Amino acid sequence: MKILVAYLSETGNTEKVAQEIFDSIPGEGKELLPLDVVPGTGDYDLIFCGFPVQVHSVPPKVETFIRTIPKGKKVAFFTTHGSLRGGERAVSAFHQLAGIGKDLKILGTFGARGKVKMALLDALSQKPEHRAWVDEARTAATHPDDADLQDAREFVKDILLKARHG
Ligand SMILES: Cc1cc2nc3c(=O)[nH]c(=O)nc-3n(C[C@H](O)[C@H](O)[C@H](O)COP(=O)(O)O)c2cc1C
Repeated sequence: MKILVAYLSETGNTEKVAQEIFDSIPGEGKELLPLDVVPGTGDYDLIFCGFPVQVHSVPPKVETFIRTIPKGKKVAFFTTHGSLRGGERAVSAFHQLAGIGKDLKILGTFGARGKVKMALLDALSQKPEHRAWVDEARTAATHPDDADLQDAREFVKDILLKARHG
């Protein structure tokens, strides 16, 4: 199976998870690439695509990339986000993916927390409507941590099982 791990990462959190995902895929037929240098996705049997949640959403660059993936391709998405796992500001991007990737075979999704850059936290903390989120996001300061990376490895196992049998 030829597998691509493509990711967007501005401050390194998603890259760290992408590297862990890549390392835990057994075998030789795999590549790890920032998504803006992926020459094409047609040759791969399975694509892991990762990105940071931004403004509750899939970043536009990532949406553009997903729309280049041939119909019916097996994909798995992973994110990092400052919100608590399962929180609305973390999962809304997954809901959006169901629409953007509706012609793809989405085998699963995985989200891990990632520390949020200080400049954003400081800017948002000036706005009362964002203060609650800033307090929540500050508690992501140690993420992604070893437990997140362990969960990422479990995610890979699950996806590979589905990819082989579906
Ligand atoms: C402009 C901007 C918007 C963000 N919006 C959200 C958000 O809506 N929800 C969330 O959980 N985290 C949000 N975050 C936090 C990032 O998703 C988080 O820090 C992520 O781990 C960054 O990944 P990276 O290091 O790979 O760039 C935002 C960060 C930035 C810079």
